[in-house]
Amino acid sequence: MAAFEPSELWDPAVRRDRHAFYARVRAPGGPVPQIDPASGRRFLVVARHADVRQGLLSPGLGHEAWRHDPCGPPPPSPDTLTEAEWIGARQLISVDPPDHTRLRRLVSGAFTPRMVAGLEPAIRELVDRLLADVRARGSADGVRDLADPVPVNVIAQLVGVPERDRARFRQCSAAIVSGGPDNPEATVALGRYVDELAARRRADPQDDLLSALVAQETTGDALDRSELVAMVVLLLVARQETTVDVVVNGLAALLPHPEQWEALRADPSLAAAVVEETVRYDGPVEIAPPRHALTDVELGGGVIPALDLVALSILGADHDPEVFADPERFDIFRPHVRHHIGFGSGIHFCLGAPLARLEARVVFEQVAEQLPGLALLADPAPLRESGPRLRELPLTV
Ligand code: HEM
Repeated sequence: MAAFEPSELWDPAVRRDRHAFYARVRAPGGPVPQIDPASGRRFLVVARHADVRQGLLSPGLGHEAWRHDPCGPPPPSPDTLTEAEWIGARQLISVDPPDHTRLRRLVSGAFTPRMVAGLEPAIRELVDRLLADVRARGSADGVRDLADPVPVNVIAQLVGVPERDRARFRQCSAAIVSGGPDNPEATVALGRYVDELAARRRADPQDDLLSALVAQETTGDALDRSELVAMVVLLLVARQETTVDVVVNGLAALLPHPEQWEALRADPSLAAAVVEETVRYDGPVEIAPPRHALTDVELGGGVIPALDLVALSILGADHDPEVFADPERFDIFRPHVRHHIGFGSGIHFCLGAPLARLEARVVFEQVAEQLPGLALLADPAPLRESGPRLRELPLTV
């Protein structure tokens, strides 16, 4: 097995070429131990497609290690956690069955395909307006002018944040997404806002997700107050940057391939394939939220000892040559692209996948129809030196 440095995953050289690292992780030899420099905790990295998928599907891997560790920390509680931590601990993405099953059922009942599909005209109108501005200016920053404004407005509308509160909501959301020092305060502020809005919806229901969620409060097994706040905060914030990344990374990957860009221009229905290949090739989630082994779990040719942490690498899996031929090539005509696991798999499969797919598809379709001369003004690679996300993408139209 290749030798690994203890915190190699954070090494700037690995950050610049993550694929070379994951190719070594995928080699036979079992999961690769790493140490998180921030917490000092050891965890095991898995990156073969079959193993990551198996890990995502395994009931032996989960988030609530405290249930299985008599000597470990006490269960999360509002008495021992800060308000922001408590909101995080109650989120769908952080809990195991049976709570996960109950929460997921409740939110899925409100987050229906009809509700998502019903947003398409509003998304088209929003993207039309953004593109009209870009055409008038003749240039754009793909992040600020095209990608950023879409998900924040769409999710605000879906949840039911009124127009007059959107500026406040966007501010909180930006502070949380940036992960800066004001993040906990912004989480708490957004949590209080959601609480306040939920009270308004109880008194005067509208045709929106928050009203649908509070309407369930009259049934026996509804979301409690903290679960409702945690759920809405998760929907509002945590998923903003993923959709932005798909639009930005997709343009950055597509535009340097004139034949694929021309194909999309000739047939905008290829936009759905652009979305899928972008999620596979350069998706926003490098590693699924870490799981603990709840018992000893066999995975990837080794055993993850009970209570150890596991990092399931979605990026590594979606660049596994066993599943995707020539994985480092961006190819919107790639067969079986839907075998990617960029939206996860199993019980935590992305709840927002239909919405993210819809938003990104509409942007790619309309960009191809309305900005035929679109081109990159600079090579995106150096813009990524400071971190995995593209924070700007200069474009000319
Ligand atoms: C879960 C990816 C957009 C809401 C996940 C997971 C992934 C993912 C990989 C699984 C995490 C795990 O296994 O622990 C993405 C990508 C997106 C995207 C690539 C954009 C292209 C969205 C949007 C929303 C959303 C727009 C909401 C409106 C959620 C929620 C979960 C989740 C609530 C947790 C589901 C659960 O725990 O049952 N997402 N996501 N996502 N996603 Fe997304």
